Amino acid sequence: MPVTAYDLSGRTAFVTGAASGIGRASAVLLAEAGATVHCADRDAPRLHETATLIKGRGGTAHTHHLDVTDRAQLRRAVESCERLDAMAAVAGIMHSSPVLETRDEDLDRVLAVNFKGVLHACQEAALRMIADGTRGSIVTMASGAVDTGGPGLLCYGVAKAAVVQLTKTLATEVGRHGIRVNAVAPGWTRTPMTLRHGQAQARTEVFMARLSPLGRVGEPEDVAHAVLHLASDASSFTTGQILRPNGGVAMPW
Ligand SMILES: NC(=O)c1ccc[n+]([C@@H]2O[C@H](COP(=O)([O-])OP(=O)(O)OC[C@H]3O[C@@H](n4cnc5c(N)ncnc54)[C@H](O)[C@@H]3O)[C@@H](O)[C@H]2O)c1
Repeated sequence: MPVTAYDLSGRTAFVTGAASGIGRASAVLLAEAGATVHCADRDAPRLHETATLIKGRGGTAHTHHLDVTDRAQLRRAVESCERLDAMAAVAGIMHSSPVLETRDEDLDRVLAVNFKGVLHACQEAALRMIADGTRGSIVTMASGAVDTGGPGLLCYGVAKAAVVQLTKTLATEVGRHGIRVNAVAPGWTRTPMTLRHGQAQARTEVFMARLSPLGRVGEPEDVAHAVLHLASDASSFTTGQILRPNGGVAMPW
C-alpha cells in the first residue's frame, strides 16, 4: 500500500469479530495498510486463521480469544496492546423475529453482544487512548437497518440504533482528546452471517442486488475499506458520522 493518509505503519489497531466476514476483512486490510493488528473473537479456530492469513501476507497479528460481552476480558486484551491507535468494534450477531413473537431473552441476548459488546470496546479503547495521549480513532459497526427498519429486525435494529447513539455521543465527549468516533452502516454484505440462511439468503441477495444502482450486494472488503478510511488519517476531520457502504440501496418499505 502506498504511503498516503491511509498508511498505518507504526500504528496498532484492535478488531473485534476478527474471525469472520467484515471483521476478518478489516483486520487483513488494516494489516496491509501497515498496522499491527490485535484480532479478537470468541471463535478461536477461525480467529487463528485470520492471524495466519495476515502473517502469510507479511503483516503482524496478535490474537485474543474473548467474548465481547465480558468487559474484563476486553479490558485485559486492550491493556496488553503495546499501544492503541484504532479500535474497530465489529463483532455482532443476527437475530430475526417478528415483534409479536419477540421474547425478552431475545432482546437481552442481542443487546448484550451488538450493543454492550460495542460499548465495552469503545469505553476500553477511549480510556486507553486518553491515558496514553493517543489521538486515536474508534470505528463502530451499525447497519443499514438503522435507516429502514425491516420485518423481523426489532432486536437487531434496536441494538444497531443504540450503536449509532453511542457513536455520536462518545464523539462529542472525547473529541477534546483528539479521539474520533464514527460508525459504519453496511448494507447487505456476503459474509457467513448472511450466507447462513441458505435458499432464503440466495433470494434475498438477488432482491437486494436489484435495489442497488450498482446491481450487486456488498463484499466484506467493500466494508473493510470504509473501516480503513475511518481508522486512518484520511478521515482526520470526520467524527460522529455514519458511513454507509450499501451500494446506494434505498429500502422499499
Ligand atoms: N453481513 C451483513 O450484511 C451486515 C450488514 C450490516 C451490518 N453488519 C454487521 O457487521 C458485523 C460483522 O458481521 P458479519 O456479517 O461479518 O458477520 P459474521 O458472522 O461473519 O462475523 C461476526 C463475528 O463476530 C463474532 N462474535 C459474535 N459474537 C461475539 C461475542 N460475543 N464475542 C466475540 N466475538 C463475537 C463471531 O464469532 C464472528 O466471527 C456485525 O456487527 C453485523 O451486525 C453485517
